[in-house]
Amino acid sequence: MVYFDKHPRSTPLRMAVFASGEGSNMENIVRYCRHVDRRAEVALVVCNRAEAGAVGRAQSLGVDCEVISRSLLNDKAGMEALLEAHRVDAIVLAGFLLMIPEFLISRYRGRILNIHPSLLPRHGGKGMYGRHVHEAVVAAGDTVTGITVHMVSEACDEGRILFQAAVDVDAADTPADVERKIHALEAAHYPRVIMDTFFE
Ligand code: GRF
Repeated sequence: MVYFDKHPRSTPLRMAVFASGEGSNMENIVRYCRHVDRRAEVALVVCNRAEAGAVGRAQSLGVDCEVISRSLLNDKAGMEALLEAHRVDAIVLAGFLLMIPEFLISRYRGRILNIHPSLLPRHGGKGMYGRHVHEAVVAAGDTVTGITVHMVSEACDEGRILFQAAVDVDAADTPADVERKIHALEAAHYPRVIMDTFFE
């Protein structure tokens, strides 16, 4: 498999962040690129829900944001035109809940990352997203959970693992407690892991 040829340092890498929910990861990535590491920038936020927190956050941050339908996501010419218009070099998924079509995976092969809120392969696959993952962790009595950053491949949650970090689950933790711990881990690691993947 051909992975991303590391981005040259002369111009910032232009990333599109795809988000469906609150957009806290998206905001962390934007801020990281502005204040910590300017080798990349968020050129575009793509969201499939007009009412998602990610849309408002993108507007507050002054980042271009496109709300897309499922049919546009699956329209090769339409998506290519959108990403080309914003000169997108790489795609970062951050709580994006629709399946990424194969034409985007192959076009951005090695340049499309996802974060999953568990230690894959545990609690991965279809239907395992957001709060469902944390509920499964608590229901299974797991004493440890964590985050996984991975390349996106055609098989859901099965691309090459780039990074994992773990956190303890206490016996009294609710799914909401686990979610808070996971968000803290994501904030601490995801932006840096993105940079390490594209530049080191
Ligand atoms: C994150 O926990 C992410 O790992 C998962 O969905 C959540 C999205 O949170 N896939 P946010 O929208 O970034 O706040």
